[in-house]
Amino acid sequence: MSDPPRADGQYRAIVIGSGMAGLFAALEASALGPVLLVTKAELHEGSTRHAQGGIAAAIGPDDSTDQHLADTIAAGAGLVDEEMARILVESAPRRIRDLEQYGVSFDSAGEARAFGREGAHRNARVLHARGDRTGAAITSALAQQVEEGKVIVREHTLATDILLEAGGGGADPPPPAPAAPPGAGAGARGPRGRGGGGAAFSHTTNPPVAPGDGIGLAFGAGAEVSDLEFYQFHPTAFRQEGAPPFLISEALRGEGAVLRNDGGEAFMPRYHELADLAPRDVVARAMVAEMRASASDHVWLDCTALQRVDPYERFPGIAAFCREHGIDLQRDPVPVAPAAHYIMGGVCTDSWGRTTVPGLYACGEIAATGVHGANRLASNSLLETVVFAKRAVEHLANGGGGAMAGCPDSTSFAPTEGAPRDHADVRRLLWEHAGIERSGESLQAGLETVAGWTDTEPEPSREGHERRWLGVFAELLLTAALRREESRGAHYRTDFPERNDDHWGRRQVFHRAG
Ligand code: SIN
Repeated sequence: MSDPPRADGQYRAIVIGSGMAGLFAALEASALGPVLLVTKAELHEGSTRHAQGGIAAAIGPDDSTDQHLADTIAAGAGLVDEEMARILVESAPRRIRDLEQYGVSFDSAGEARAFGREGAHRNARVLHARGDRTGAAITSALAQQVEEGKVIVREHTLATDILLEAGGGGADPPPPAPAAPPGAGAGARGPRGRGGGGAAFSHTTNPPVAPGDGIGLAFGAGAEVSDLEFYQFHPTAFRQEGAPPFLISEALRGEGAVLRNDGGEAFMPRYHELADLAPRDVVARAMVAEMRASASDHVWLDCTALQRVDPYERFPGIAAFCREHGIDLQRDPVPVAPAAHYIMGGVCTDSWGRTTVPGLYACGEIAATGVHGANRLASNSLLETVVFAKRAVEHLANGGGGAMAGCPDSTSFAPTEGAPRDHADVRRLLWEHAGIERSGESLQAGLETVAGWTDTEPEPSREGHERRWLGVFAELLLTAALRREESRGAHYRTDFPERNDDHWGRRQVFHRAG
């Protein structure tokens, strides 16, 4: 049990969120002074806990950081920031060791480490823990360290504003706040109202506390955001009437599982040379085409041909979930369909995790470091989290301060005043208007819905704050997707199906007007 919050409100760092980024950053920063960690739900909740595949690191015998870098750049469809991606892949071995020192135990095969393979990786380089329960294994190890250490934790607490010192100005007039040198703090609402922010799309692999509103919150405080049109849809989420959202890891296809249509055909070789291990956007769109052709809301993942592994040993979480829903992985095909999974964009950061707001750092899924470009390589996200959280804390340890330089081409943007009525409205809106296939018409219609949001509260409740920031995030996403008149990576426009490097070989950055 951690100490009560400090009466003087002074912390070396205030960390918002208890996914892997928040837990790891809080632990590392606690060596520098008092750290407060606020989290919407419970310490152990958050997206990381649901991660199955693992964490990519080129540390296997036949692998190299150059190959990992090349795969990352290829997946990112022309928009990867190569310098940042190099930092990512080259830091991997040290960050894996850090995690092990915090008590994470990665799976081995005999004496050697076990490496899985996932889509668009040319080598098997994905470390996993407890089979397909990698995220849970990492979260429990880090959360245990946080609970036993010096970090002060406030659960069920939503950050409602980022508060800036001396004239920085957040979006709303700030309530009296804890000061967090150097330069930024957070306004928060205590344990009342509902727990989750709601994943942003109707069909999702994310838990309800998943990001979206956090990006709106940082934007409101003046941080630049980018790449919000690039939202990755994971090809294989479990799809059965009444079943909760559940990821069916790509690592199954890495072990030989095959997608089949209603006619039993293994269709992926018709779409890409890497067949079932093609980039996720390619697989997701191929599945949509097959589903459309057979008027079905799913295709099938056939795991009966797994080559080297027993699915009950290697994928215990997925096997147990499927069994609860009447499916035996060794005998029955699994009904799957694409679902929203991960946003490549977010709050712009430099290589030290600094945003354009002095004192505000970002790491994890909320950050747009540039390493994912237009489409993230599988299992690079857990790696990105620890690499840039570590660098942010190193920067703080060296005195911190300053901010990332703003982007000269950033677009000034004033979000609509009103908030959506509820989270479900936003989820439907994004799924219908900014889903796997988008068009100018559908995105424009989505923005017209946003313009009709009229909900305003002079003193918003916790829920009201969350809806407001989620609304800002949704509007930014629709706007970025409408402006990008091309198809690239995870962003597919039916009215502009080709990639256009002449006009769009660049990132789109937005900042708050005024
Ligand atoms: C998966 O296990 O398929 C997801 C891994 C990831 O998104 O990085």
